[in-house]
Amino acid sequence: MIREVIVSTMSLEGCIHLAPMGIHVLEEGMLLMPFRPSTTLENVLATGVAVMNATDDVRVFSGCLTGRRDWPCVPSDRVVGCRLESALSHTELKLQRVEEDPLRPKLYCTVAHEAQHRPFKGFNRAQFAVIEAAILVSRLDRLPLEKIQRELDTLAIALEKTAGPLEHEAWSWLMDKVRLFMGEE
Ligand SMILES: Cc1cc2nc3c(=O)[nH]c(=O)nc-3n(C[C@H](O)[C@H](O)[C@H](O)COP(=O)(O)O)c2cc1C
Repeated sequence: MIREVIVSTMSLEGCIHLAPMGIHVLEEGMLLMPFRPSTTLENVLATGVAVMNATDDVRVFSGCLTGRRDWPCVPSDRVVGCRLESALSHTELKLQRVEEDPLRPKLYCTVAHEAQHRPFKGFNRAQFAVIEAAILVSRLDRLPLEKIQRELDTLAIALEKTAGPLEHEAWSWLMDKVRLFMGEE
């Protein structure tokens, strides 16, 4: 199974980097698969660690894809790195093995530490819609525009029915980016 999380990493110079990623949950450990080029990939290879952040603030997902990467972080507990301050829970990972690939290397990690910070309050369809829309936005230059528009129209139904203010804000950032991209086409 794949969990959609925010991965926080740090460069050797201490620069924090946040990126939404789908992480494969394995029987033993986790698998990250960043597409090249990727700052996350560079940081994990340099430091040997990454942190998975589970958050229900979907603005972090849409923000990272729309130039708003500056979300509050605090130091992680066991590995040298950081976690999202708003995380419901976080999992600290240590790089165990790299399977090289020119397009999408596989980073096999072990779990060094996990911690809970806030309760999970239930599923929300608008949050799902924002995450799906964020994936579409991350592939704007690779998918046919009609397919993107069709899928966004469907996702907008769940958004309209079930969103709160945070989900509306997250959605609006993504739609601004889609409009800008389509206007430039
Ligand atoms: C929900 C979600 C899951 C994503 N999963 C991945 C992933 O597994 N691998 C990847 O390379 N990019 C993934 N992306 C896109 C990255 O977040 C985005 O391209 C990012 O800039 C990665 O590059 P970076 O490490 O340089 O930040 C995902 C985006 C979203 C919204």
